[in-house]
Amino acid sequence: MSAHIHPSILSADFVNFERDFASISDADSIHVDVMDGHFVPNLTFGIPMVKRMQEIAARPLDVHLMIDRADEQALPYVELGVASVTFHAEASQDVVSLARRIRAAGAKAGVAVKPGTALEAVLGDLSEFDLVLVMTVEPGFGGQSLIESTLDKVSQAARAIALKGLNIRLQVDGGIDLANIEKVAAHGADTFVAGSAVFGSDDRNQRIRDLRVLANQGLRQTK
Ligand code: DX5
Ligand code: ZN
Repeated sequence: MSAHIHPSILSADFVNFERDFASISDADSIHVDVMDGHFVPNLTFGIPMVKRMQEIAARPLDVHLMIDRADEQALPYVELGVASVTFHAEASQDVVSLARRIRAAGAKAGVAVKPGTALEAVLGDLSEFDLVLVMTVEPGFGGQSLIESTLDKVSQAARAIALKGLNIRLQVDGGIDLANIEKVAAHGADTFVAGSAVFGSDDRNQRIRDLRVLANQGLRQTK
């Protein structure tokens, strides 16, 4: 599996999405953080904004829902035609049923766990997902430092996916930068969200390529 880089538009200029999307044309996908001000203490945007993003984006959209009541709220995002929709295990009553409905509606289904949530919440149902997101910071804000203790969970997820021979992307989100991406990849992550590390660069496409090279080096070190 080769490394994918998903810049998070949480670090973009919210009144210049079209310009900022153009500046990350080398991204594998664009990571869209939807926050409801309740599941996390921050508020971003909802359906009308993501609809416009889907209309103007040249790259696939990877929607990360940090919202309550995911079972009721997730499907309208899928119906916009985005590539993937990831919901939080903590916000769903039935992760299997929701993943099946997301897939049936035409998107890849992702499930996310916060730093304090054990992977066991999703391990038994891994085959139901296209993507597992291990949060490496507390969700809510960009620009935080990676929580080192979450890397054990990355390794645990990578082993479980390999053991079952599943074709699932293992995503990490939060505090990923040039200094740590190789190490995180060596734990088995293959899909990297990066907000401030990409948008803080003068040459964002070059930063994406640099991150990808380092991540692929790390992936080659996984056992
Ligand atoms: C945090 C979001 C992230 C965030 C990452 O809750 O889910 O996607 O934008 O930003 P950085 O890479 O700056 O930590
Ligand atoms: Zn995110």
